[in-house]
Order: sequence, then structure tokens, then C-alpha cells
Amino acid sequence: MPDTTLAADQKSGPRKILVTSALPYANGSIHLGHLVEYIQTDIWVRYQKARGHECYYVCADDAHGTAIMLKAEELGITPEALIEQVKAEHEKDFADFLIRFDNYHSTHAEENRVFANEIYRRLKNNGHIAEREITQAFDPEKNLFLADRYIKGTCPKCKADDQYGDNCEACGATYAPTDLLNPKSAISGATPIEKKSTHYFFKLPEFESFLKEWTRAGHVSKEIANKLAEWLDAGLQEWDISRDAPYFGFEIPDAPGKYFYVWLDAPIGYMASFKNLCEREGIDFDTFWAKDSTAELYHFIGKDIVNFHALFWPAMLTSANYRTPNKVCVHGFLTVNGKKMSKSRGTFINARNYLNFLEPEYLRYYFAAKLSSSVEDLDLNLDDFIQRVNSDVVGKVVNIASRCAKFVTRDGDATLAGDIAEPALWQQAVDAGETIAQHYENRDFGKAVREIMAVADAANEYIAAKEPWKLAKQEGAEAEVQAVCSLGINLFRALMIYLKPILPNMAEQASVFLNDDLVWADTIEPLLKHRIEVFKPMVKRVEKDKVAAMVEAGIQAQPAQQTPQEDAAAPTTPLAVEPLAPEITFDDFIKVDLRVARIVAASHVEGASKLLQLTLDIGGETRNVFSGIKSSYQPEQLEGRLTVMVANLAARKMRFGMSEGMVLAAGDDEGIYLLEPDSGAQPGQRVT
Ligand code: MSP
Ligand code: ZN
Repeated sequence: MPDTTLAADQKSGPRKILVTSALPYANGSIHLGHLVEYIQTDIWVRYQKARGHECYYVCADDAHGTAIMLKAEELGITPEALIEQVKAEHEKDFADFLIRFDNYHSTHAEENRVFANEIYRRLKNNGHIAEREITQAFDPEKNLFLADRYIKGTCPKCKADDQYGDNCEACGATYAPTDLLNPKSAISGATPIEKKSTHYFFKLPEFESFLKEWTRAGHVSKEIANKLAEWLDAGLQEWDISRDAPYFGFEIPDAPGKYFYVWLDAPIGYMASFKNLCEREGIDFDTFWAKDSTAELYHFIGKDIVNFHALFWPAMLTSANYRTPNKVCVHGFLTVNGKKMSKSRGTFINARNYLNFLEPEYLRYYFAAKLSSSVEDLDLNLDDFIQRVNSDVVGKVVNIASRCAKFVTRDGDATLAGDIAEPALWQQAVDAGETIAQHYENRDFGKAVREIMAVADAANEYIAAKEPWKLAKQEGAEAEVQAVCSLGINLFRALMIYLKPILPNMAEQASVFLNDDLVWADTIEPLLKHRIEVFKPMVKRVEKDKVAAMVEAGIQAQPAQQTPQEDAAAPTTPLAVEPLAPEITFDDFIKVDLRVARIVAASHVEGASKLLQLTLDIGGETRNVFSGIKSSYQPEQLEGRLTVMVANLAARKMRFGMSEGMVLAAGDDEGIYLLEPDSGAQPGQRVT
């Protein structure tokens, strides 16, 4: 589908384009799911730059909120120290995946405070902020208001224990946290009390007609517009944009103890990061953000955060007298081997884990080959990944150069022929550029890749038919060999020009080999009588072993013998001796509360192939634990036995119920061996 929001005519001079990816939270590592987005955006930006447009790509860490505050506390460091560490890690991961931001900032930055305050002031002056008292759950021990997900209790409907404050995972009921029976703070375990506090709300309902129009004006795809229409028809609610102290964020001006909710200042972070770039490079900020701006603005995001970007954000921008985005480009979620990414299967793959085994461009190519402008989920099938990269990138593209290079080299001199042997074939490759460009522009990278591979196929067929390696053995065929291989190399060059946004490193090497900058001109002219360099292999094949090792490393990175997810596949060949985990201090160790536990009951779990359900007595308290030891124990063998458990592990919701801790066992594929204290130990005794 053509993009209706493009600047009128691409040939009317360079467009000014500002592009963003969603800001990753500063409390976790980048994983391959995130990379769908950053790779997609980076390819689009590189394409725009290659076509000569003035395009900027900005991003930042999303540094605010309760989760980050609690995580820092858990680690015993300040939130500032945490977000600094995480930002450095994120930047390194992105750089190593060849994601080239023009600026990478943080939402915890002065520019962002200034914009957040200013936008809030404008919303308030326009009468778009409401103020009222609300009643919320409050943790009297931590002195903290509790968001729904920090409250747990018994479902009021089906009476399932340990359910979160907004919905029951057992029966699917939704409710208010105040409806939970026997509610507890998930942070301290204290019983929450109800407490009143003043909150500030953005009056979103006032933007209903604006949003109904905006969401139908080509700024989002049709499928997203339909989804948004459901929300809009159901009626918009005022949006609570404040949080009470303690909160890691920006304090609201004239409201001591009140902070902007993280999602208020997160999208403003796009402006702040760009402002930071403008100051550094002398770019005019207003050209891109003023109400009457003719520059283009694109936000790339995942489907889970559409409401923030296609409802709240355009409404805020409008009230605050800024321009709104041309397009919110929404992608789907990553699955691996057809399933949700899973730690126990080793398919929850961190960026760094991938990089420890594989080249970034393999993934860039594979994602590109599968990406479209739709919101459909994208599957990384690991076997297909190996096959596809090897057959396309190595087998089709690089192969052209490696087969032709040696035949244009004569007496150490490698100069391409003075004309094109088969003009029709060359013209076909040049003409494909227009279609490929359209697909890039529309974010249909899969279609672009298919088109590029069709050119590669044509080139390979030509070379196969001409058999220059046979011609080279014939007397007097030198000129023909050179002509065939020169065309082959020119076709390879066209391919690398088209692939450069996806494979920037490989293009760099091709550029050295060809003595050429690989510029994507409107009409690509061939290199004639042009000196090239010695061909060097540009990319290795993807090795199956490396992929397997990456998956294995993902499995190993989990704590040993933790309550496994039931659908987990058995680990593949384990390492002979597992390497030691990084050193910890005594203070780290003592945080783990190990207790002697008596197994008072053990039973099979219906539908679970690896789990046993254990009831553990730890001296006056019993715990329900699901443990992946079924392959080595019968329930009858276990009842009455002593073992050791981690007693202060956060409870985990599993398919069969809550697991409240973990028993210790050694083991591998061969067997599992439950740890048992010497006789005399008593349930509840601490193990140190
Ligand atoms: N901090 C917010 C975004 C604020 S933007 C003003 C956030 N962060 S996130 O780290 O959870 O996600 C960052 C981006 O990665 C989001 O666009 C999200 O949709 C995307 N993805 C996170 N996990 C993903 C997959 N498994 N698959 C594809 N994209 C995913 O949301
Ligand atoms: Zn329920």
C-alpha cells in the first residue's frame, strides 16, 4: 500500500526527516525482541540517508518509574548509578548491532525536565489538566502507593491465591485491587491500607473528535486505526499523569511530593534527545517540532505501546502547540521457533549472548527478509535463519564477487571492461532499484529483499550460463572472460548498493574491494575501465554449532535447577563442567535465605511432564513449590525427607499455580540429586 504521508515528491530535493525508536527501559538488557524494532528503524534511516535526505535518528533510555527505583534498591545502588550502567550497556549492544543513532540520550536529563515542565504548563494553561483526590492502596511498611501489579491476593471470584491486583490469571476475572481478598504488598508483604492523595489528570476525552480524525488520516495503518477505533468508541478516560513520592522521576512544578508518571515524560524524551543533538550540531529544533513544521516525523514502536503514541501523545502535542507525527509505525512481536521467547528453552536471547556467537548482520538480514509494514508477529526460526542467510547472502550475493573477481585480474592488474556485455541484464538490475526503493520507503523490507534476490538470481544464472571458468582455459577468450566477469562485478555492486542499509559492514568491505563509495544514485551508472582490489571473503557462513551454543548459553544463564517452566525442552548437551558464575561478595550470598525444609507432601501435577508439586514445612510455615525433579523421583520416595530450599525467592506464577521458592538439587541430563542435610537438622533452620 503506498504511503500517503510522504513528502509530495521525493525528487524535489532532500526531505528533512526525524525518526525515533521507542525508548528501552533502563532496568533490563536488550534482547532480540527489542532488536526487531531497532534494526527495522536503523535500516529505514540508513535507506533515507543513502537517498540523500537529511535524516536524524534519535533514541534514549527510558529511565524513570517505580520499577527502576525498586531495582536500584534491590541492587543497593542509587537509581542514577543504575541507569548510567544500563545506558552504557544498551549503547554498546546497539553499536555492536550496527544501529547508528545520531543521538542516544536519557529521559533523566535536563532537556527532558525542561520540556516536560513546559508541556505540562501549556496543558494546564489550556485547561487540560484536572486535579482530584483519589484513594489508592498504600504499603504502610514501605510508605509507598502500590500500583496494581504490586498488590497480590486471593481472587474475589474463584478464590485462587496469589493473584495480581488487576486480573486473575486462574479465572480471567478483572477487578480493582481493592476487591482482592487478603491483599498483600508484593514489595514488603504488608497488608495494604487505603489512602487518599491528590492526582493530576490529562483530560484526554476533550480530544476525542481530534483523535477520531487523526487516527483515520493515514498516520497509522488501517489495522491499527481499527484497533484505536474500538478504544475511541468505548470512550476515553482521563489519564492519571502523576505519582506520589517516593518515585524516580521529575517532580511536578508547584506540586511538592508529586512526580510526573514515567509515561508522561517518556515520549517527551524524543524531543529532549533531539534537542541535545541540535545543540551539539547546530540543527534548528523548531524546523522539526514547530506546529507548522514541514519536516517529517516518524515514531517506530511495538504493538504494545500504541495507545501512548497514537492517542495520548498526539493529544498532548496538539494541546502544547507542537506538531504531531506523520506516522506511528507499529511492528509486531518476535517469536522464536514459533513460540514466545522462553528463558528455559534458551530462546529468550539477549543481544550480548547473540553477539558472543554470531555476526550482527546475519540477524539484520534475516529480520529484513521477514519484516513488513504490518503489525504481524515475526518469527525467528533458527533453522530457517541459518539456511536463509547462508543461501542468500553467502550463496547468492558474495558468490558473484568471489567467482568473478579472479577472472578480471590479469598480470596483477584488475580493471573492469570498458562496456557492459549484456545491456538488457544490466538495465534490469538498474530498473529494479526503483521498486526496491519503494519497498524500503514503505517499510516492506521483505519485499525489497525478494526483489534484490531476484537480481542476484539473474546475475548467477548469467554467470552459470557463460561459465567464465571454462572460457578462461580457452585460447583467445580473454576479452570475453573479462566482459562476463566485469558485468558480474557490476551486478554485485548494484546488489551491495541495494543491500547497504541492511548490511552496512559488508557494504563497507565491498566498497574497499570495488574502490567505490556505493552511492545509491537515481540511475546507477556501471563502473567501466575501473580498477578494483583483490577480493577477500566478506562474510562467513552461519554455523549450526554456533547457533546451538548460543541457545545453550541462554539456558545455562538461568539459575541452576530453578522451578522450570513446564513447557521447557530438556536442555541440549550440557557442558562437561559448567563454568563458575561470576564471583559474588558475602553480602550477596547472605541475601539468599536457605532453609532446611521437610517435604510433607509430594504429588504429580496433572498435565506436567517434568514437575512434582511439593509441600514444604520450614518450621511453622508451609510452602507450595513446583520442582522439575519428576524424571528422578517418585512422590512416595520424597514424603518425609529433609531438603534445603531458597525461602526468600519471589513467588512465581506457573501454569499450575504459584511456586513459592525453590528446592536445591544437583543434576544434569543423567539425573537429578536432591540435596539433603545430615540427620538432626530441623525444618526452618537457616543454612549458611
Ligand atoms: N519504555 C517504553 C517505551 C517508551 S517510548 C516513549 C517501553 N520499553 S521496552 O523496553 O519495554 O520496549 C521498547 C520497545 O521494544 C517497544 O517498542 C516494544 O514494543 C519493543 N519490544 C519489546 N519486546 C519486544 C518483542 N519481544 N518483540 C518485538 N518488539 C518488542 O516499552
Ligand atoms: Zn480468579
